[in-house]
Amino acid sequence: MEKVFEFLTPERAFKLAKTVGTPTYIYDEGELCHAAKDVLNFPHAFGFKARYAIKANPNAYILRLFDKLGLHFDASSGYEAERAMLVGINPEKIQITAQEYPKNLKYLLEKGVLFNATSCLQLEMFGNEFPGKEVSIRVNPGIGSGHNNRTNVGGLSSSFGIWHEWIPEVKKIAEKYGLTVTKLHTHIGSGSDPKTWEKVVNLSLNAVKKFPHVHTLNLGGGYKIARTATEKSTDLLVIGLTVKKAFETFYKETGRKLDLEIEPGTYLVAKAGILLSKIIDKVSTGKDGYTFLKLDTGMNDMTRTTLYGAIHPVKIYPANGILPKEKETVVVVGHCCESGDIFTPVPGDPEGILPIELPKSRVGDLLAFGVAGAYCASMSLINYNSFPQIPEVLIALDGKFILLRKRQSLQDMIALECEEVLDLT
Ligand SMILES: Cc1ncc(COP(=O)(O)O)c(C=O)c1O
Repeated sequence: MEKVFEFLTPERAFKLAKTVGTPTYIYDEGELCHAAKDVLNFPHAFGFKARYAIKANPNAYILRLFDKLGLHFDASSGYEAERAMLVGINPEKIQITAQEYPKNLKYLLEKGVLFNATSCLQLEMFGNEFPGKEVSIRVNPGIGSGHNNRTNVGGLSSSFGIWHEWIPEVKKIAEKYGLTVTKLHTHIGSGSDPKTWEKVVNLSLNAVKKFPHVHTLNLGGGYKIARTATEKSTDLLVIGLTVKKAFETFYKETGRKLDLEIEPGTYLVAKAGILLSKIIDKVSTGKDGYTFLKLDTGMNDMTRTTLYGAIHPVKIYPANGILPKEKETVVVVGHCCESGDIFTPVPGDPEGILPIELPKSRVGDLLAFGVAGAYCASMSLINYNSFPQIPEVLIALDGKFILLRKRQSLQDMIALECEEVLDLT
């Protein structure tokens, strides 16, 4: 996994630690562009659009970069859609796939944002508010994929999307409000196995058959990036060819040429990010216990290890510049007052502790987590223990370092606190 740290040379790591401090997120523009190119080259039979799932990392620079490179966007809430518009994204390039029916939907639709209904009630609410319109629906095709129930977004245990057996209900609602279903969407987090993708695309195409006006099938995201040596990244060309073939067969059978959409989050940003921290303490619980490396970051900055036992590759940057040959087996923990603040869980089991072997380190050395561009800065328990939200820095294509988000000040942290008497009459 050494490769994922290539853009953060020891020289850069120490310069950044000195200038912006630790902890900080660091992104590599070259890697972002590379991933975008891969996604835009996804094989397709007919029309094609790639959307970026904004929730993976909504930093304005990243949105504008992907916009320039030709990506469209998927927003996971009305707020996320408006946030993207605020930083200059054309509303017509944004689709909303949200668990909460957006309170600002009227405004967003007037601007040109597309709506993807993810439940029968959402469809009913949409029909009631906007009768006669075209609409997209998210369908749960009946199977799921993901390493545990925190990341599985399809099948019986998932509340995301309209269960495939409720399609007759969808038709009734559409008829009641004069809605035309023109897009169908599935997202089950399908991973890197072409067989699973084949199943998902065929189930999704079967659902499309029930809607004569559907012209676009969106297969969501779920293209995996390996975070450990044993994990396998998705080969987009392999998956894409499976999907392309299925679309061609569908055309032969039905005479319908469907446009394809995909909307990766992880694939586009995961590898481009590193969380850089400093070792602030080393604690032992004796010969039957563990050696703990304690960091100046924690679950407040990168929550996914604590939340679902996600594993991220680790690299030590020794303060004296010399990586020792000697190894040690350690548990890496964060700075929050929580026993669950742990960066080396058993994979997929946040309750478990799995010590890892690292070069022997000292307090003051830097420690980096790789593959930290997706669902890391964006999914954080901001301000727990009153640790400030941390900066984001980009290493641009020309080698310049650009601060994309400042470190939060304590003044920022308390800025919304007040003592206003509410008039409830
Ligand atoms: C609707 C939708 N689309 C796309 C994505 C992106 O998924 P991934 O980051 O696995 O590519 C998600 C993630 O949860 C999602 O919910």
